[in-house]
Amino acid sequence: MRVLVTGGAGYIGSVVTAELLSAGHQVTVLDNLSTGHADAVPAGAEFVEAGITEADPVLAAGGFDAVVHFAAKSLVPESVTAPELYWHNNTSGTLALLESMRRHDVRTIVFSSTAATYGEPDSVPILESSPTRPTNPYGASKLAVDHMLTSYARAHGFSAVSLRYFNVAGARITPENSQGERHATETHLIPIALQVAAGLRPQLQVNGVHYPTPDGSCVRDYIHVLDLADAHLRALERATRDQADGSDGQGSHLICNLGSGSGSSVREVIESVRRITGRPTPAVDAPNRAGDPAVLIASNDKAAAELGWRPTRDLDRMVADAWQFFQQLSPETAGSTGADHG
Ligand code: UFG
Repeated sequence: MRVLVTGGAGYIGSVVTAELLSAGHQVTVLDNLSTGHADAVPAGAEFVEAGITEADPVLAAGGFDAVVHFAAKSLVPESVTAPELYWHNNTSGTLALLESMRRHDVRTIVFSSTAATYGEPDSVPILESSPTRPTNPYGASKLAVDHMLTSYARAHGFSAVSLRYFNVAGARITPENSQGERHATETHLIPIALQVAAGLRPQLQVNGVHYPTPDGSCVRDYIHVLDLADAHLRALERATRDQADGSDGQGSHLICNLGSGSGSSVREVIESVRRITGRPTPAVDAPNRAGDPAVLIASNDKAAAELGWRPTRDLDRMVADAWQFFQQLSPETAGSTGADHG
């Protein structure tokens, strides 16, 4: 298949691009490099440096079977202080992309949605039928796109799959060209803990130690980026099949959570980092981070039933792969704590 990957210079987009290429697909990456890295685009993919509102000429050139859409702003705190960036990039930008797709008759799409569409859950595991009450503009901007896709499926014959990621971690390690997480501003637990393990930060803060969880710290559902990539390839096959079957012009929109179905606490993650790196990794108790739910765990039964997908890599494997990738980074990239994120 010929696939357009938006955001293919970012963390998850570059891993999925690499896996699409290994599976024999032809890939064009569209990325404006606002947070991505040109050298993260896997060799073998065509690269177009442009934003999603500029997809028209690329799609007009013809021959695309599907779009896998990652390009987005994804920093929750930034979305609270500058919501316009999120509505503009994530929501309006995606509308422009869908319109380009419609114009050029490319109606198959896999969309990078998020657990943040659910907000604070009433109970876990979170099902796809659970209420969607995002607590920040990031989650709201992605939920709007999920609604957009439902309506494009119904009205315009799109076949879409939205994948709602929980906490993504790990890296794709190969001898030639690894892909992993390297955000200009790091806010995520595992990369920060690895910076501490490497001695680039003195200590790590455990954000909240009195939550109603077994050890008092927040519990999250971590998923290896390679398991996530596997789900995207399955989703692409599924959307393609739905598109071929939908001869009456009726499209489809499937929404699936991607998580492991079990949780790890912040303290358990830090223990895993200590175990894998063999470094002390000092951590101190700190106040709750605003807006953090105590426990987020996915039900992945729907992804299993609809896509035949089950994750296979555990937390230690995620930490080990992330650590290996981290050690391959240049010192300035690995230690970056600046003010941006991809
Ligand atoms: N944490 C710490 N110390 C740190 C960093 C994080 O204790 O230095 C804690 C957080 O407070 C949280 C847990 O580790 O309890 C995980 O935090 P992350 O920032 O790694 O991930 P989040 O669960 O906040 O965010 C993830 C995705 C978001 C998405 C969100 C949906 O990264 O993109 O889930 O809920 F929006």
